[in-house]
Amino acid sequence: MASNENAAVTRKSQRVAFFSTKRYEQDAFMNALARADGNAEKQLDIIFFEHALNAHTALTCIGFTTVVIFVNDDICDQTIEILKNNGVNHIALRCAGFNNVNIRSAFKHNIEVSRVPAYSPETVAEHTLALMLTLNRKTHKAYNRVREGNFTLDGLLGFTLHKKTVGVIGTGKIGKAVIKILVGFGCNVLCYDPLPNDEVCQLGANYVPLARIWEESAIITLHCPLNEQSYHLVNEQSLVKMRTGVMLINTSRGGLVDNKAIINGLKSGKIGYLGLDVYERESELFFNDLSTEIIQDDIFQRLTTFPNVLITGHQGFFTEEALAEIASTTLANIVSKQNRILP
Ligand code: NAI
Repeated sequence: MASNENAAVTRKSQRVAFFSTKRYEQDAFMNALARADGNAEKQLDIIFFEHALNAHTALTCIGFTTVVIFVNDDICDQTIEILKNNGVNHIALRCAGFNNVNIRSAFKHNIEVSRVPAYSPETVAEHTLALMLTLNRKTHKAYNRVREGNFTLDGLLGFTLHKKTVGVIGTGKIGKAVIKILVGFGCNVLCYDPLPNDEVCQLGANYVPLARIWEESAIITLHCPLNEQSYHLVNEQSLVKMRTGVMLINTSRGGLVDNKAIINGLKSGKIGYLGLDVYERESELFFNDLSTEIIQDDIFQRLTTFPNVLITGHQGFFTEEALAEIASTTLANIVSKQNRILP
């Protein structure tokens, strides 16, 4: 198990273990520590581990009271029991979504859970648009063609986004930021959220029942959390209702779509374009260099064979500004009571 203890800070009080860290995050956190106004942050004794936190690795929490985790750490009931038995009293997520933490179990064991609820929603919104525009105008293919001296346009035909109907599912912070951009493009925006928001209507979008999103949208983009209600929201039944050639974009959580249904939809032509930044079993793949390995996930591999599929490896959050915001908020969450998830 690889671990990197290069950033230990000596003679400090609260011991904090970061899991699943990459160099760029370690740098962002060390910069945030240097910038922190409060003395409390500077008192943290921090160690960065590269390995993920899960039931197999949980014993590496020994000696720490706070663990800082990311999207693919697996904080199941078993992990939580080990954390509790070894003195951990706070799980700090350095991300917004918390579907990878068994919240009930954490509460049962009196472990606090905090997260970074908002760090530049525009960052993820802009990546969502990058997927839409790339899939549509095929700039990724044009880039390669031109470098090889191939200036033909066959196969690069796109459509004009202006006046197209786009369905936005989930109109929280990121959904709203996406709507603002789409309105700027001149799109007709339909949206669905169990908790409608006036601000979204003022932007010019219209709340409609989910059935109308499926039936009328040329593009459907998902911005809701993964929970029991939203699991496999895009499935065989919802696909039947969609327009032929629909563009589907998911930058939220992999479990929102049923990938077997998606593959059938791509094969039949029902789905004309697919843009993913998240994948249901991404924890086995994303954030790692597997370029010399045989990837065993046949569903993922099949998805990558379609010419109209664009997958990025959970990089929607990945800008300098967002990393800095995540780092400073996470540190503040550790030293204060802010952004706790309540029972
Ligand atoms: P948010 O909490 O601000 O908004 C979520 C919205 O979804 C809320 O308005 C809620 O009422 C709505 N919602 C809940 N259940 C729904 C359902 N079944 N159908 C439709 N809407 C539903 O969350 P935020 O910050 O906008 O994040 C949205 C998603 O983006 C989350 O899943 C989060 O995990 C993901 N995310 C992805 C990132 C990436 O790097 N790709 C980075 C940050 C967040």
